[in-house]
Amino acid sequence: MTHHTLEATKEVFVPFFGRIVEVKDMTAREKYFKVELPKPLGHVPGQFVMVSLPGIGEAPISISCGPRNDCMLELVIRKAGSVTGVLHTLRPGQLMGIRGPFGNGFKIETFYGKDLVFVCGGLGLAPLRSLITPVIENREKFGNVIILSGARNPSEELYRDELKAWANKATVIRCVDSIANMPWDGDREGLVTAPIPGLNLDPSKTFAVLCGPPVMYKFVVIELDKKGIPHEQIFIDLERRMRCGIGKCGHCQINARYCCRDGPVFRLSDVKDLPEALA
Ligand SMILES: Cc1cc2nc3c(=O)[nH]c(=O)nc-3n(C[C@H](O)[C@H](O)[C@H](O)COP(=O)(O)OP(=O)(O)OC[C@H]3O[C@@H](n4cnc5c(N)ncnc54)[C@H](O)[C@@H]3O)c2cc1C
Ligand code: FES
Repeated sequence: MTHHTLEATKEVFVPFFGRIVEVKDMTAREKYFKVELPKPLGHVPGQFVMVSLPGIGEAPISISCGPRNDCMLELVIRKAGSVTGVLHTLRPGQLMGIRGPFGNGFKIETFYGKDLVFVCGGLGLAPLRSLITPVIENREKFGNVIILSGARNPSEELYRDELKAWANKATVIRCVDSIANMPWDGDREGLVTAPIPGLNLDPSKTFAVLCGPPVMYKFVVIELDKKGIPHEQIFIDLERRMRCGIGKCGHCQINARYCCRDGPVFRLSDVKDLPEALA
């Protein structure tokens, strides 16, 4: 290995440290973190970082903010186990290790002049916010924009204030599976798929972008098929167990593809022959 590639390899395996500047409870399970990095991350929407705690471990976490020139990084972390559990105890001023950005992400230019339908289920809104934010900020570059957001109940809804603000520039339909006797100022009780039959979509220029629990993809695709949206125009953001994040360890393999390097964003036409990809 040349000196140059050795240095490059070291850089992707050795984390740098980010200082937490803000932590907020979003729901009972999810916290928002704003982290100041030593230099701008230089990411594109849909990419992720590996977040680590020395001596504890590492977890892939989606970048939740759009591309930015400052040194800030925004993450939404659900408490799921050993790493995320300790991350939830961190306070402003403390450090977390970061590697990345990794993954392919979205090329935003693909959507210029097109209509967009975002389908965000639960925590799926966290990664899709990295694309929705620049779309809303450059609204004139896109056609119709529809954002369908689904949560299990009102207390599980993420980014409520932003969803309401986006409604000034896009069609936002906020759904909950069940209102569950909680205060709710959203649009519908029912699954996030329920509004799709009522949408007026032009298959020649509509792109759909999906992120949510695996079961959601199947049902959203059934509805989009009825609207005639070609599978080349459906993007899905997939999650797989990961270790290295850079296509070396094979942990995240989906048949011949590595989710960390070739994804996590895939066109449905590229993965639909891989049934396990959507399971
Ligand atoms: C590309 C990508 C982006 C992600 N983005 C986010 C994000 O923005 N926010 C967020 O909170 N989480 C995200 N995740 C999931 C997150 O990485 C896992 O929840 C985390 O690794 C769990 O680590 P842990 O050590 O806390 O839990 P562990 O102690 O490892 O596991 C706790 C429990 O969660 C299960 N689990 C662990 N990892 C996964 C997984 N990837 N899928 C399903 N079940 C799992 C385990 O089986 C176990 O039951 C993302 C994952 C990927 C691959
Ligand atoms: S996580 Fe190692 S190859 Fe993808």
